[in-house]
Amino acid sequence: MDFKNNIRVIPDFPQAGISFKDITTLLKDGAAYRAAIDELKALVAHLEIDVIAGPEARGFVVGAPLAYALGVGFVPIRKSGKLPYETIEVGYDLEYGKDTLAVHTDAIKPGQKVLIADDLLATGGTIATSVSLVEQLGGQVVGAAFLIELTALAGRNKLSDIEVVTLLTYED
Ligand code: PRP
Ligand code: MG
Repeated sequence: MDFKNNIRVIPDFPQAGISFKDITTLLKDGAAYRAAIDELKALVAHLEIDVIAGPEARGFVVGAPLAYALGVGFVPIRKSGKLPYETIEVGYDLEYGKDTLAVHTDAIKPGQKVLIADDLLATGGTIATSVSLVEQLGGQVVGAAFLIELTALAGRNKLSDIEVVTLLTYED
């Protein structure tokens, strides 16, 4: 299935020069959304996965259904100040702006094999930060799965030791 037909590209959002990949047009199409998650499931089928971790917000709409499909748990990686229990936090730079991600200290047990899932790999800052959080808890990141990769931003290079799977690629 060519999922590019389900992605709406918005030029100059949220600022000039950014070509925004809008996944809401994929998400609202039940058949396409299910097919995308099923295809990601097939792409990670060879990996041993105990739990999926996904960064807020769009990582939830990829990671949670993938976890359900695989029958494993889901760990939300959230923006600072949202999680109620004890957390660890890591700050990072985005393609546009800065942010901080957090995870509960008991979310992952040492030695658990973790797949990280998000909608989009751009500069790789979000996913590298997610990897850092998982590794600080003693988790072993076995892979990272995305709907979309923006190849010109070379985020994959920040994940050199990790298997990266993506459904769709755009240059930027
Ligand atoms: C977007 C997107 C990815 C990240 C990719 O999230 O959902 O998580 O940017 O960029 P990077 O590879 O350069 O880090 P955003 O922070 O805009 O927040 P959202 O998911 O809450 O919309
Ligand atoms: Mg995001």
